[in-house]
Amino acid sequence: MWKVAQVLFGLLCLGYMVQSLPPDAGRSSSVTTVSIVKGHGFDIEEHEVQTSDGYILTMHRIPNHKDHEKQLNRPVAFLMHGLLCSSSDWVLGGPENGLAFLLSAQGYDVWMGNARGNTYSKRHATKSVYLQPFWNFEWHEIGIYDLPAMMDYVLYVTGQETLSYVGHSQGTTSFFVLSTMIPRFKSRISSAHLLAPVVWMDHMESPLAKVGGPLLGQPNAFVELFGSAEFLPSSKAMELLGSSLCNDAAFSQIICTNFLFLLGGWDSPYLNETMIPDIMSTTPAGCSINQIFHYLQEYNSGYYRQFDYGTTRNKKEYGSKTPTEYDIESVDVPIYLYYSDNDYFASIIDVDRLRYTLNPNTLKKAYRLPETKWNHLDFLWGINIREILYDQVIDDIKNA
Ligand SMILES: *[C@@H]1O[C@H](CO)[C@@H](O)[C@H](O)[C@H]1NC(C)=O
Repeated sequence: MWKVAQVLFGLLCLGYMVQSLPPDAGRSSSVTTVSIVKGHGFDIEEHEVQTSDGYILTMHRIPNHKDHEKQLNRPVAFLMHGLLCSSSDWVLGGPENGLAFLLSAQGYDVWMGNARGNTYSKRHATKSVYLQPFWNFEWHEIGIYDLPAMMDYVLYVTGQETLSYVGHSQGTTSFFVLSTMIPRFKSRISSAHLLAPVVWMDHMESPLAKVGGPLLGQPNAFVELFGSAEFLPSSKAMELLGSSLCNDAAFSQIICTNFLFLLGGWDSPYLNETMIPDIMSTTPAGCSINQIFHYLQEYNSGYYRQFDYGTTRNKKEYGSKTPTEYDIESVDVPIYLYYSDNDYFASIIDVDRLRYTLNPNTLKKAYRLPETKWNHLDFLWGINIREILYDQVIDDIKNA
């Protein structure tokens, strides 16, 4: 009975949330990565790069710290955002708490990626963002096309031989896609610092996954039907979900109507409330519905493997009935993990599986935050994040 109710509720939500047209082709808000960085008196550059399958991505770069003399040959830090997020994640906290600013203060040349489909990367050489073929991708493609295109470009422009990688959430999932599929990057990434790492997901606690997973995480489920749509939670659906899932204070009501928080958790005492207006105007930053389906498949199947299209198409794509697994044991980049107990997306059990599957020579650190209420989004926007987390991440980057 409960299963049936879950499925029905899942269908209802899906009906509300899936609107294939028109996509959110541009946010009206004026809060952008560029405006935030400039607002703090820093120089910022925008760089465009085209992937080998035609997507045009925008990267943001803080080449120098405003108080430093211009200096060439700064070491490179490359920051990659998570699902429904963007380069804004790393600057919303300002010079005191934004990781991009903090790395800049430590002498790094800071580059921030933007995955296909988000606010800053909604263009393609031949496909229109308004038509479905544009949206026919998920985080596998971010790993095998976007990350290589961006990092090759960064290394070329800076003349550096290696870079330090920092990823949050989907920025860690796609990092492992890259490292397992494209081995040449092992000599280009000097270390990878993975915040709230998401690889295996069968212990995910997100209530939305529990509702949507059983139905939408099936092989082939809805992919042929909705597979190439932008994921656009409608405001009606958000009100509905927000009021049914979390109905206490007015504060949480704002949070509860933002899909990102419904996904990542709204019950953290750490969220920096000063940042809420800017968070609201920069997220959710857009993604394809396939990215969410692929995560739900992981939740359902317990595998970290490529997209499950169902037996027939799997045979065509992978030469076998089931999708190819990503071989975590083969990863050969120094890895630093940072994770927490109250993370709906990266549960302790799933992170431990990652930790004990990685080759022990590559795993340099697994840091479980002592703050037991720290959640998935606090890795970006928690209060005092500098003392709690970023100082340590920066030390690790320096000493890697
Ligand atoms: C909260 O966010 C604001 C705005 O980004 C920032 O200036 C402030 O330092 C943050 N406060 C704490 C305690 O982290």
